[in-house]
Amino acid sequence: MFQKGLKDVVAVHTKIADVIGEKGELQYRGVQVGQLVTQYSFEQILYLLLNGQRPNQEQLQEVQSALLQNRTLPQHVQAIIDALPSEVSLMDAMRTGISAFCDRDFVRKTSNEQAIQLIAALPVIVARHYRNQQGLELIEPDANLNHTANYLWMLTGVSPTEVHVEALETYLKLTMEHGLNASTFAGRVTISTESDLTAAITSAIGTMKGPLHGGAPAGVIDLLNEIGSPENIQPVIEEKMRRGERIMGFGHRVYKTEDPRSVILRDKCLSMSGRDAWLDLATTAEKEIIRLLDKHKPGRKLYTNVEYYAAAIMRSIDMPTELFTPTFSVARIVGWAAHAIEQQQDNTIFRPQSVYVGAFSEKSC
Ligand code: ACO
Repeated sequence: MFQKGLKDVVAVHTKIADVIGEKGELQYRGVQVGQLVTQYSFEQILYLLLNGQRPNQEQLQEVQSALLQNRTLPQHVQAIIDALPSEVSLMDAMRTGISAFCDRDFVRKTSNEQAIQLIAALPVIVARHYRNQQGLELIEPDANLNHTANYLWMLTGVSPTEVHVEALETYLKLTMEHGLNASTFAGRVTISTESDLTAAITSAIGTMKGPLHGGAPAGVIDLLNEIGSPENIQPVIEEKMRRGERIMGFGHRVYKTEDPRSVILRDKCLSMSGRDAWLDLATTAEKEIIRLLDKHKPGRKLYTNVEYYAAAIMRSIDMPTELFTPTFSVARIVGWAAHAIEQQQDNTIFRPQSVYVGAFSEKSC
């Protein structure tokens, strides 16, 4: 049986998340993501995803202190990040920084300990390379701030507002895990060869970089900038459809109704103070684009995916566009790690078949 892009093929059984495409639901470890977003912190969800159970107070403190301790990058990783030219993209810097976690001390740790160390390190790598690129002084981590607030602090050197921390944390919590998406699959394939967690996360970051996966929210900003005002929605979209272009922030392999993450992020954006003309345009454009997609692609059930309102959230917290996909990765590394560990626990190497459809040549040697 051949399915291009492995569409609808079940490649793993997982206990980590359930993406229920037809109903537009997402559950982490059996709990609706909407409930987790309002009742749990990033650190609590991290524990839940990695361990399959909600942390008690002691377990939560352990995970918080492990994250704190690992905010300082090993010397050699700092040196590697600092040696990168500024034109190296943040995604490439993340991949390079993570792939350097392979010294003797690190490889002796359990996969769970390695996971926490890499999860703690990733935002620090992003902030370090970003500030190096901008020619700005590096900011030391602040032990009084949680994972999300410390990320904003290390990026900007300014104490983040509660509103900004809450908006970003909502986004991070919603994007920590999402079943067998392309980057998670890449990570599982890598670790299925009995390679290690560092290699799995490195593969996942490389896969996340592409515009059809993690690169979409920056495309949404470009799209809405191009549209500019409501009367341009129709002509801009019609022209893109005529050219066969994809509309960024719309469509999903699994959701054939509204993406639940998009719904939560839209509500969050609308409830935030400082609502502006750009957000009004985004909400108006959403309805009109869905209508136009239905006209041009009837029956394909194309709605906004998480990236559409992710762009709005990022914009509302003044996150520069080049940090969108890296920030997505700062959240998704938790799902990558949980899947890599699950794969290790019951492993069979991934090795699908291919069918040769090329020419036959008698001259071949
Ligand atoms: N704009 C226009 N047409 C679209 C879009 C879109 N955004 N998405 C799907 N379609 C059309 C396709 O052209 C195709 O039409 P056809 O049947 O005439 O060939 C049909 O809908 C089905 O599309 P597929 O590519 O088969 O759907 P698939 O499930 O493989 O793609 C994907 C999912 C890659 C997300 C796609 O919808 C897309 O490219 N979207 C835009 C990029 C984007 O927003 N990516 C972020 C996804 S969320 C995430 O990764 C976190």
